[in-house]
Amino acid sequence: MPKVRKAVFPVAGLGTRFLPATKASPKEMLPIVDKPLIQYAAEEAEAGGIDQLVFITGRNKRSIEDHFDKAYELESELERAGKLDLLEIVRSVLPGNTSCIYVRQAVALGLGHAVLCAKPVVGDEPFVVLLADDLIHTEGKGVVAQMIEVYERHGCSILSVQEIPREESNKYGIVEVERDAEGTMRVVSIVEKPRPEVAPSNLAVVGRYLLTPRIFDKLEHIGKGAGGEIQLTDGISELLKDEPVIAYPFEGKRYDCGSKLGYLEATVEYALAHPALGKRFAAYLRDLAISRL
Ligand code: UTP
Repeated sequence: MPKVRKAVFPVAGLGTRFLPATKASPKEMLPIVDKPLIQYAAEEAEAGGIDQLVFITGRNKRSIEDHFDKAYELESELERAGKLDLLEIVRSVLPGNTSCIYVRQAVALGLGHAVLCAKPVVGDEPFVVLLADDLIHTEGKGVVAQMIEVYERHGCSILSVQEIPREESNKYGIVEVERDAEGTMRVVSIVEKPRPEVAPSNLAVVGRYLLTPRIFDKLEHIGKGAGGEIQLTDGISELLKDEPVIAYPFEGKRYDCGSKLGYLEATVEYALAHPALGKRFAAYLRDLAISRL
């Protein structure tokens, strides 16, 4: 079975829910406490054994390239000033054995189209896709590592899924599943953003996918779907006709950082868990709550 080595990060979306913050800079560079969302996602991929990061970029995404690039001036300034702990933080943004590749999606035609843009780089290998605005905190292994373990057992595409309140089905790709004898959930059908009354279940796909390269053939042939976009969900629906696809209910807590509320929740919880800030921030929140209630 081919090893999963490549991760695709579609970062060419317009990020309209976060305007004006995302007018000139990508939502994936929004920080949670002190790290941009894209770095959390890159670290999760690296922890799963990924060593090639493929970013699908658009306009205003230069800061992502700069973030993962070497920062000569900053590094020599920190070194000169003897700020070695900060130097280490800056240098560890990209581990030495990891490489970055950037592919431009000229027009934001949808997530499916963004993934298709990775075809020349990914070639004939299985790969993972991470949507960095879905930040997933895990106590143990990261979600990419969890999914790769499932892949090593089953050798097919895997979608990370989570139960959602049914009335929110029109924000997600929703899967219909069947459990096999071992309890593994096989995807029977998938539909993008169905209305709650026609949604096949309350199992939503969130921003982690492990896909076989066959998906590229499918994405090349589907047209525009929901919202006039080329949808990854529609490509997966076609893939299902040829190959099994598994729905994997990951272990971890997901924050929808593409929405303002989810972003704020992640910020507060990551700040509370931060080794240097947590205690003082908890005291601040307690005082604030007392003074406002
Ligand atoms: P979203 O549906 O979150 O869209 O895209 P968006 O444009 O980023 O944000 P809103 O909804 O306008 O606020 C899901 C993922 O797919 C990427 C986005 O960057 C995000 O990671 N994407 C979407 C692309 O890379 N290209 C596209 O054409 C569309």
